[in-house]
Amino acid sequence: MNVIIAGATGDIGKAIAKALSSEHNLLLLYRDEAKRKILERDLKATNIQFFSIKDLFQKSESVLSEFTTFSPDAFINAIGDGFYAKVEETTLEIIDASYEANFKVPFYLTQIVYKVFLNQKRGYIIFINSVSGLEGFPYGVAYCSFKFALRGLAEVMYKEGKRYGIKVSTVYPGIVKTRLLQKMPFLPKEKDLLPPEEVAKAVKYLLNLHPTAEVKDLVLKNKELSWR
Ligand SMILES: NC(=O)c1ccc[n+]([C@@H]2O[C@H](COP(=O)([O-])OP(=O)(O)OC[C@H]3O[C@@H](n4cnc5c(N)ncnc54)[C@H](OP(=O)(O)O)[C@@H]3O)[C@@H](O)[C@H]2O)c1
Repeated sequence: MNVIIAGATGDIGKAIAKALSSEHNLLLLYRDEAKRKILERDLKATNIQFFSIKDLFQKSESVLSEFTTFSPDAFINAIGDGFYAKVEETTLEIIDASYEANFKVPFYLTQIVYKVFLNQKRGYIIFINSVSGLEGFPYGVAYCSFKFALRGLAEVMYKEGKRYGIKVSTVYPGIVKTRLLQKMPFLPKEKDLLPPEEVAKAVKYLLNLHPTAEVKDLVLKNKELSWR
């Protein structure tokens, strides 16, 4: 399969890229050249291409052209960022930044790949969302709200895409041990955290499903959560 991964420089994206690199051709999207170099060094695979999405909103035509040439079977969105503040402390700047990372960029990229899939009359979109897209949490005004919006996008794409042979699934992980946790106002105990590789396993499972089978939503919870 040819698989595009957005957010491949992140901890979950990188775990997914590692898990898929032995079986699939990958196009990894990045915005920071230094992080791309580290990713390339760590993956050590030959079937991997990279594409910069720096200044994304100024270059939709070149993104479309790159995606079309790659001829993807699947697109995985692992882009997102953590923004946490209490209701009364959440500023419009925080809202704007979270909107961009957790909805606008994922929407923009997924819309472009959706156009490619429409032309191909096939394709599979997998969103890495969060349990914060299913439930609100304290300090989550900016984070949960746009994860809910991303779930809305996935629901619409799931129904519209079905008419054209496009599959859409979402993975909703609980709390995963990644650098994003450094931004959280309170943390669970280390022993309770999901390893990013568990999210990668879930993605692999979805990609390997028989063509007659569908898992629309996969909720990957922490079995236990205790707090420091
Ligand atoms: N960690 C958790 O507990 C957890 C749980 C459930 C869901 N998730 C979700 O899983 C996804 C991956 O998270 P992670 O924990 O792996 O975090 P991470 O290590 O911080 O990775 C985030 C990725 O998103 C990219 N990104 C962030 N903001 C962006 C923007 N405005 N434009 C373009 N790219 C942007 C980052 O690029 P750079 O490397 O260039 O910064 C990076 O590749 C996110 O959507 C997150 O919300 C995380």
